[in-house]
Amino acid sequence: MPETAFLKCIRTGCGATYGLTEPRYACDSCGALLDVAYDWERLIVPGSLQFFAERWATRNEPLDFSGVWRFRELMPFAPTDQMVTIGEGQTLLQQVDVKRLDLPLADGQLHLQYEGMNPSGSFKDNGMTAAFTMARMLGKRRVGCASTGNTSASLALYASLTRTNDGVPMQGIVFIGAGKIAYGKLSQALDYGALTLQIDGDFDACLARIREAADRLGLYLMNSVNPFRLEGQKAIMYRVLEGLGWDPPDWIICPGGNLGNSSAFGKAFMELHQLGLIPRIPRLAIINAAGANTLQSLVNDKGLGWNDGAWDDTLAAEFYLDMAKRNQRANTVATAIEIGRPVNLPKALRALDVMNGIVCDVTDDEILDEKARIGRCGYGCEPASGASLAGLRKLIDNGTIGKDERVVCILTGHQLKDPDVTVGYHMSAAQEKPAESGKAAEIAAQQRCWANAPVRVPDDLNAICTAIEGA
Ligand code: F0G
Repeated sequence: MPETAFLKCIRTGCGATYGLTEPRYACDSCGALLDVAYDWERLIVPGSLQFFAERWATRNEPLDFSGVWRFRELMPFAPTDQMVTIGEGQTLLQQVDVKRLDLPLADGQLHLQYEGMNPSGSFKDNGMTAAFTMARMLGKRRVGCASTGNTSASLALYASLTRTNDGVPMQGIVFIGAGKIAYGKLSQALDYGALTLQIDGDFDACLARIREAADRLGLYLMNSVNPFRLEGQKAIMYRVLEGLGWDPPDWIICPGGNLGNSSAFGKAFMELHQLGLIPRIPRLAIINAAGANTLQSLVNDKGLGWNDGAWDDTLAAEFYLDMAKRNQRANTVATAIEIGRPVNLPKALRALDVMNGIVCDVTDDEILDEKARIGRCGYGCEPASGASLAGLRKLIDNGTIGKDERVVCILTGHQLKDPDVTVGYHMSAAQEKPAESGKAAEIAAQQRCWANAPVRVPDDLNAICTAIEGA
């Protein structure tokens, strides 16, 4: 393995380093999270980001076709013959009509990075391609994760297509919380053949359990506590920059769950800036769901910050203790981000510091309305992604984001991941509401602004024509 890549503790004052030959997710010496770090001085880094755009001309080469490995000089931890790819990251930065969304931004200033176009339908594939590469380098056959759904779908897909260097198929093992996963995502894990364990508990419990199981059984852990996952997810930002002709936007807005994505974005910009490849760093807004707003509470209410790498661990510990005492669990319609104990909290604090970032939270109703609005513009997404736009609206309304600023919202997952929520929303306007209980019926019970219910008509041409003409 190249010695120019190593693991490094993120805590200032510790900074312990480790080689890549053992799986490691935390610092042996102080317990903090690890970064993948590089000795950039000894590496060949392209002189300008334009270099990567030229890769498109050689897209018949699988690594150049990948929207992640196309940027491999910026994540140089693996030799090219070890890189796993299934063509992830063919996603687009799309400009949207702000008037259709009724957003008071200047024309042309809003872009959506639609990560639902990945092979498993979410941004997770960006990270999974990198984590599977590392699993292969470490000689791991069994790989596992806890998941609110998308990580498991992505892991299951990559496991079904990847073999070890000895030619043995990898085995995917996923832990999901009982009743906590959208069906679109569960169906993927099952179809791709992963061993799927439904644990009686929420995501936080599943993650704690898989970390123990990984220790005991030697599974390679694929959650975003795995620093290589985040290396791959940096590529989302490289593609955003590419879509804007390498001119950084003013704002990046993304939903926050386990905080892997926001952490990866922060690291991407920190490195690009250090390498002199971008003139300035955009600001970051991380959007929590109000029912799963640990980051929002810790940062805005308790004043937790990165503090030059000496963040205060006790604030989060007290917060979690208090949550446990009150038996409080994360609860939101956006199940993807229904997480109370985000594992990447310190790295997200660093991202907020590097990107002069902010955090806010939005209600489930705001998430649902925004998801429906963006759906009307042809960009279907799952509820968690709606949080990006709901956050944008709130930040414009409260004057944080100015009307002339250039904004990129990340749509993290595909519309078809959670059809129950979408159908429930639109059925709220139906003459006959769904009778059965469950998520769709609960959502349908309230009036929803953008509902578009199916119109029931008898099998009669006159009635059908009347329905069409009266619409
Ligand atoms: N959006 C979607 C669609 C997600 O699936 C997730 C996380 C997030 C946003 C939040 O991203 O964790 O990096 O802050 N889903 C994980 C999972 C936790 O298990 O699929 P984050």
